[in-house]
Amino acid sequence: MRKIPVDKNLFCLPWTQTLLGTHVRGKVNFMALDWLTRVNFDPAMLGICVGSGHASNQAIRETGQFSVNVPTVDMVEVTDYCGIASAKQEDKSKLFDVFYGALEAAPMIAACPLNMECGVVQTLDLPTNTFFIGEIVAIYTEEQYLTGGKPDVKKIRPFLLTMPDNRFWAVGEHVGNAWKDGVKYREKLKRQPADGQAGTRRQTENGTTAAGISNLIEKQQVIETVNRLFINTDNRDWPRVKALFSSRVFFDMTSLSGGQPVTMTPQDIVDGWEKGLKALRAVHHQAGNYLVSIGDSEATVFCYGIALHYLPNNTSRNTRTFVGSYDMHLVRQDEEWKIDRFKFNLKFIEGNPDLEAG
Ligand SMILES: Cc1cc2nc3c(=O)[nH]c(=O)nc-3n(C[C@H](O)[C@H](O)[C@H](O)COP(=O)(O)O)c2cc1C
Repeated sequence: MRKIPVDKNLFCLPWTQTLLGTHVRGKVNFMALDWLTRVNFDPAMLGICVGSGHASNQAIRETGQFSVNVPTVDMVEVTDYCGIASAKQEDKSKLFDVFYGALEAAPMIAACPLNMECGVVQTLDLPTNTFFIGEIVAIYTEEQYLTGGKPDVKKIRPFLLTMPDNRFWAVGEHVGNAWKDGVKYREKLKRQPADGQAGTRRQTENGTTAAGISNLIEKQQVIETVNRLFINTDNRDWPRVKALFSSRVFFDMTSLSGGQPVTMTPQDIVDGWEKGLKALRAVHHQAGNYLVSIGDSEATVFCYGIALHYLPNNTSRNTRTFVGSYDMHLVRQDEEWKIDRFKFNLKFIEGNPDLEAG
């Protein structure tokens, strides 16, 4: 991989688009603002970077107050206008319905789903910009933007800016969970051989990445779990069969028995299987054609399966064969894969259906 140097003034990371609210000589004003960041946890502080020549800059110096408002994707045009028009030449005071919280010179936009009012605690003058650090006095939202009491980015619908292509973007897909995915990654690292390279995406000699290898290992462990289900069942090792299931299992044998799928405990399942297979001399499951996909601490498995029941009897028709496929779902619990969905899809039955009747 060859890295190439690019212009160091290239602003290529997406920023959250906001509108900075101030009082410019007593008049409401808003400017487009992207350069902002949270800078302290407690007390909650926000850092904003405002060009030295902007009317907003002078306003913050005079009042020591400002607001940061998060517009929705429906407000792209008016937001951009606030970034090309200066209060020095154009009146932006009537663009929005505003409201106030505790601070008298920090107007907030009613139409924005999120509003913060801040009081300046530090000012850092840089060559072309000023970095104002404001303590967040209050944050406002509305019930409609919350899910489970927390602001929901899907409902807020903010937008982002990339430069120098100067384009606005909606927020994309939910791709992971903070403070959780790292825990999973740590678990994966623990399962990797300790060769000092764990955690990197180092390419192996055949071009496979460490993450790819980790995925293969997971898939193999999932297949082994399903294989153990069949082998332990054939061995009628019920405690081991039970241990392969999650505490509740969505169990669907309706292609064979009719009725409806049910939710069962591992004990219910092994009790049923122990009883159903008791009379047989041998049970033999053969599985293959595995298709496994690994997700977020979960896995789905499709496989072919043949179950052979053997019981010598007077008719000499000693076997019964169930041919079909399985759909299973597994979850990762305490470093192990557990089956929490089990579905058999019968294709056909061959042989003696009344084996036990002799
Ligand atoms: C999309 C966009 C984002 C902007 N982000 C910033 C920013 O983060 N900091 C800044 O100082 N100026 C930024 N600007 C420029 C100001 O918003 C612009 O100069 C504005 O006219 C200043 O208004 P004022 O003079 O009324 O304060 C941005 C402009 C646009 C169009």
